[in-house]
Amino acid sequence: MARPHIEPYVELNDPYRAFKVRGFRGCQYKTLSLDVDTGACTLKIRFPGGYRRSPGLSYSDCEIFVLNGTIEAGDALWREGHYCFVPAGVALPAIHVPQGAEALLMFNDAEPNFEESGDSHDRALREAFTSLNGYEDLPWFGLGRVQPSVATGCLSKLLRQDPLTHATTFLYCMVPQFAQDNISYHDCAEESYHIWGTSWMMQFGELPTGGYFWRPPYINHGAFRCRFGTIALGRTDSKLHNYFHYNPWSNPWENLQRAAGQGYRQRPLLYQWEMTDGHNHPHGPADFEEPGYADAASVARLHR
Ligand SMILES: [Fe+2]
Repeated sequence: MARPHIEPYVELNDPYRAFKVRGFRGCQYKTLSLDVDTGACTLKIRFPGGYRRSPGLSYSDCEIFVLNGTIEAGDALWREGHYCFVPAGVALPAIHVPQGAEALLMFNDAEPNFEESGDSHDRALREAFTSLNGYEDLPWFGLGRVQPSVATGCLSKLLRQDPLTHATTFLYCMVPQFAQDNISYHDCAEESYHIWGTSWMMQFGELPTGGYFWRPPYINHGAFRCRFGTIALGRTDSKLHNYFHYNPWSNPWENLQRAAGQGYRQRPLLYQWEMTDGHNHPHGPADFEEPGYADAASVARLHR
C-alpha cells in the first residue's frame, strides 16, 4: 500500500464529491488517502436517505465502519459503530439506507468497484467475512498485547487481524490526560481517523475530530498528549511493533536501520539468512504452512 504520508488532514470542512462509481451512485465521498498505483483508498462516504443497492460484490477486500446512521444490509442492521470486513468476491445482500448515513469505506486492493451478484465468487475467502458492532460487541483492553507497549491509558478493541500478515483494524481510545513522553515508529503503515476528540503529537500538532493520517513505516510520532479523551479507528497494513526512543532528529532511514539492528541482535540466524548474498532463496515467502502465499489473491486460492 504505497500511499503518501498524509498527516495531519482534517476532513470535516472539505466538501463531499458526487460518487459516480457503479453501486455508489447517489452517494457522496471524500478521499482521505489513495494509492495511485492500485486505486486502493480510504474514503468517507455519505449515503443519502432512501439509498438502495442490489446484492453484489467487489473485487477488492473492503472494510466499512459506520460513523452515524443505520444501514440495512439484508436482515442485518449496521448502526453507529458497526464494522464489516468484506473479502474480495464476497457478495453482500441488498443495501438500504432509509434515513442516510456516513461511514468510512476502505478498498484495500483496488479502486472502488461493484458488480451485481446474488452469490459470492467461488474463490472468495468467505470465512474471513467479519461483521460486528465495535461499540457494543467488544470490551476495551489495554494495549499490553503489543510489547513494548504504549503508556497506560490508551485502550483498544480489536476489530480484525489478518491471520497471515497481522494487518489489523481496531478502535482505540485515549483517556483524558493521557500522556506518553517517548517517540515511536513501526515497520508497518499506520492509519487513523478521529471519530471524536483531539490529541496532540510533537511532530504534527493537534489532531481534532475528523482528523486523519496515513503514515508510512519508520516515521517518528510522539510524544503524545490528550487532554479530554479521544476515540479513533486505526489500521495497520502488517504487524505492529513499537520501536521507542528519544531522538527527535532521526529520519525514517535511520529508524529502519535501527529496527534492522534490533532484528540482528534478537534473531541473528534469521537476519543472516535473509542478508546472505548468493543464497538460493525462493522468490517470495516460503512458509511450509502457506507455500503459495505471496499476495491476497494467492491466499484466496489457498483457502478456496
Ligand atoms: Fe503509532
